Amino acid sequence: MIHSTSVSSFTTNAIKIGLSPVGSAFPLTGCNNVQLERPSNSSKSRTEQNPNANSLAISTPYGRGCGCGCGCGCGRRQFIETMAAGAALLTALPSAASDRVPDISTAMLNRIHPPRPDWYEEFYASAMNNCMKSYEAEISSCKSQLFNELRRKKAKEVLEIGIGTGPNLKYYAGDTGMHVFGVDPNKKMEKYAKKAAEAAGLEQTSFEFIQAIGEALPLSDASIDAVIGTLVLCSVKDVKLTLREVKRVLKPGGLYLFVEHVGAEDGTFIRYVQNVLDPLQQILADGCHLTRETAKHIAHAGFVHVDSNMAFVSNASIINPHVYGIAYK
Ligand SMILES: C[S@@+](CC[C@H](N)C(=O)[O-])C[C@H]1O[C@@H](n2cnc3c(N)ncnc32)[C@H](O)[C@@H]1O
Repeated sequence: MIHSTSVSSFTTNAIKIGLSPVGSAFPLTGCNNVQLERPSNSSKSRTEQNPNANSLAISTPYGRGCGCGCGCGCGRRQFIETMAAGAALLTALPSAASDRVPDISTAMLNRIHPPRPDWYEEFYASAMNNCMKSYEAEISSCKSQLFNELRRKKAKEVLEIGIGTGPNLKYYAGDTGMHVFGVDPNKKMEKYAKKAAEAAGLEQTSFEFIQAIGEALPLSDASIDAVIGTLVLCSVKDVKLTLREVKRVLKPGGLYLFVEHVGAEDGTFIRYVQNVLDPLQQILADGCHLTRETAKHIAHAGFVHVDSNMAFVSNASIINPHVYGIAYK
């Protein structure tokens, strides 16, 4: 049984949050909506939005010549040399606009999520596959409402970060023309996710599993209609970087659907237990944190608009409460 709880308004330096007025962009029934507004930054360049973006300036002095009027052509030679050096550099650096950036994402995968022993990855994948059934049954009405928004917004190119065993794949089925990229660092998840895609009736060509991490998505800028993440920001190494990547790959106006468990309120018994068990949880559940302030991270990530809701999922015991909703780029 899911209990929706009231999210008291909180204020940050940059964002004013208040209870949702009537006519919310995403009115979830039976939940308390909180809208997070911040000024649009769509006019900013990618470099302004992402200071880590690669940029390469090549000066091209073609035509200036040496200025001696001798007709020696040294200006042309200088130009050719500069272009050759630039071309060599360009092949070495990943282009932000390229369709896929496998080199950088593989390097980041190995650095941020070094390979675990095979048996551990299999143990975790099979535990996720077997132990989440009652949780999924309980959360299904919330998820149905969220995923309906994909249909309403006619999202076709969809990316799921930390797809795991693919419990959400059934929500994409029945939509013709939808292509789902599923990103996860744990390769052992792939067979379960593919089975889930098949069981959901998704065509084989409509689902692609990519071994990668949320912090370095191997997709180009503004190429995706919607990003989905459920129970994943608890596990990534760098929440802020992951959210920056989510925004980078989303098209303007694109949606980010999230369902995440967060730390309980300070001073409560459940928070005390979470604090005690957090280190053990990270060992058993591949880096999952029990006490993250994920709602605040999403609120501060620079989305144009965020509809956010809190719920208590009784089947999830101390993995509570949950924040879920939609952020719009
Ligand atoms: C608790 S599971 C959730 C899986 C699935 N989203 C679900 O709702 O059942 C967390 C998933 O995040 C993946 N994960 C861990 N670190 C990650 C990272 N840095 N980027 C993306 N996914 C990551 C794990 O391999 C695992 O599949």
